[in-house]
Amino acid sequence: MALAHPNIALIKYWGKRDEGLVLPVTDSLSMTLDVYPTTTRVRLGEGAGPDEVVFNGVSASGEALRRITVFLDLVRERAGRTQRAVVETRNTVPTGAGLASSASGFAALAVAAAAAYGLRLDARELSRLARRGSGSASRSLFGGFALWHSGAGTASLEEADAVSYAEPVAAADGLDPALVVAVVNAGPKEVSSRAAMRQTVATSPLYGPWAASSAADLAEMRAALVRGDLEAVGEIAERNALGMHATMLAARPAVRYLSPATVTVLDAVVELRRAGVAAYATMDAGPNVKVLCRRADAARVADAVGAVVGASSVVVAGPGPGARLLDGGD
Ligand code: PMV
Repeated sequence: MALAHPNIALIKYWGKRDEGLVLPVTDSLSMTLDVYPTTTRVRLGEGAGPDEVVFNGVSASGEALRRITVFLDLVRERAGRTQRAVVETRNTVPTGAGLASSASGFAALAVAAAAAYGLRLDARELSRLARRGSGSASRSLFGGFALWHSGAGTASLEEADAVSYAEPVAAADGLDPALVVAVVNAGPKEVSSRAAMRQTVATSPLYGPWAASSAADLAEMRAALVRGDLEAVGEIAERNALGMHATMLAARPAVRYLSPATVTVLDAVVELRRAGVAAYATMDAGPNVKVLCRRADAARVADAVGAVVGASSVVVAGPGPGARLLDGGD
């Protein structure tokens, strides 16, 4: 059985260079959380028949099952095995709501499936493998802060595939960050991140400029993490996320994940800053807002956003651990 936690990008992954290999256009950087774990058990069946996937106690079918089967085919191909798998997975995060359920899901599946099929992969290779399930999953292999290399600049897709993995990045001990998650709407999104990325890259005139500015954001972010400069980390993360959403709003037709409630939370974050609290927002492929702040300020931030979305819809997260096999290994 494997355990993995979601991660939230402070420098976003948005847009693929290659869909099949899940190669991103830009590098991204995230914080793995200590909330919403996913546990996944993979057992091998007798013959080669269809895989079986049980998701929170319910048998999966359709697109969810197809995505996992395609991923398991990759693992089988690498392992030179053909047996079908029975996958049991438990996810505590609302699925498909832009709360990184696919990140923890495919990170846990990569670790559990590699073990079940006898593949001995190090963390870097597991990260490359998880990437194929969902790009952001490559980063959940690691705890704390992780940088996913795009592999851009390589001459061929094969070369990019080889070097597109995540690895931990340094941050000052004194940073002590928290991410306050404000769940505006826990329902599944209407447009998948895959489809939205495709549309943005293909049609948004703002995509190229954002991708270029994201490289500069990343360099500044790394320096800010090493300095332990939470204000700078937050400012860079917020502008990078708002820029990503701007690329989507400029797509044709527009992709809009942000709802009126999202904007109300963003207002609350601005109010917190006016009151002297270092609080910065980031949003993914959904209306929910994650607010970066110092751990010492997390209760105050949680109160402020709770006043908008309801206290029961707020979860305070800190930096969490990387994906790992739990005892027994099955
Ligand atoms: O891993 P995917 O395909 O679900 O993409 C997620 C992309 C964002 O969450 C919006 C940004 C990120 O870097 O995690």
